[in-house]
Amino acid sequence: MPGPVTFVGIDSRRLLADPNPSRIDGYAIISADGMIADAAGHMPKSLKVEADQEFFHAGLDQAAAVVHGRYSHEGGPNAARRRRLIVTRRVPALAPATSHPRALLWNPAGASLAEAWSALGAADGALAVIGGADVFDLFWEPGYDAFHLTRAAQARIPGGRPVFRELASGNTRPRRCWRAMGSGRLKPASSIAPPKSPS
Ligand SMILES: NC(=O)c1ccc[n+]([C@@H]2O[C@H](COP(=O)([O-])OP(=O)(O)OC[C@H]3O[C@@H](n4cnc5c(N)ncnc54)[C@H](OP(=O)(O)O)[C@@H]3O)[C@@H](O)[C@H]2O)c1
Repeated sequence: MPGPVTFVGIDSRRLLADPNPSRIDGYAIISADGMIADAAGHMPKSLKVEADQEFFHAGLDQAAAVVHGRYSHEGGPNAARRRRLIVTRRVPALAPATSHPRALLWNPAGASLAEAWSALGAADGALAVIGGADVFDLFWEPGYDAFHLTRAAQARIPGGRPVFRELASGNTRPRRCWRAMGSGRLKPASSIAPPKSPS
């Protein structure tokens, strides 16, 4: 399987007030038809690809925090160590998350990313955005520094949930969505390899 495609975004986020993550990185694995999960919201085995899992977890290990929706979670042995924001409308703004250590429930309608980042107490570093689709949508503004998108070429999930809402019509490819959303150029990754640690 080819390595993930990394979309390199514009850096408009730096115009925002601090505190904020130093960068925002998206991670997703999609089927050949652009889906992250089936219609029922389950991620099928065909999207669990060992090399991608290694790349994904190595990227998260280098992030200062992860953010995901209430039905998503990366799992794995290091998950409990990570600071995390769990996006939900069940709280007005920010609240402790009893379901996970080092986690906050975050409603973006009630608290800004800077407020959430500050309350989380994350170190200076990257925020890893790991989905699902509505959470990916949340970060088009302020924008991704990079979006690591792995395509499992043998997997097809007809009627599934698209990685980007713009794919829902079924006739648009992720690359075109990315361009339509004005987020920079496309850089093919040379191989599946974890992002480099800051020196
Ligand atoms: N293939 C991949 O790379 C990938 C990536 C991520 C997820 N997935 C899979 O996709 C499936 C779940 O995806 P999903 O999209 O249904 O779930 P999700 O994004 O994990 O969670 C959706 C929930 O997040 C909250 N939420 C989302 N957007 C929000 C917003 N703008 N403001 C406030 N709250 C917001 C809401 O929680 P409340 O209901 O609490 O308000 C919503 O019900 C799972 O099977 C997961 O494994 C796959």
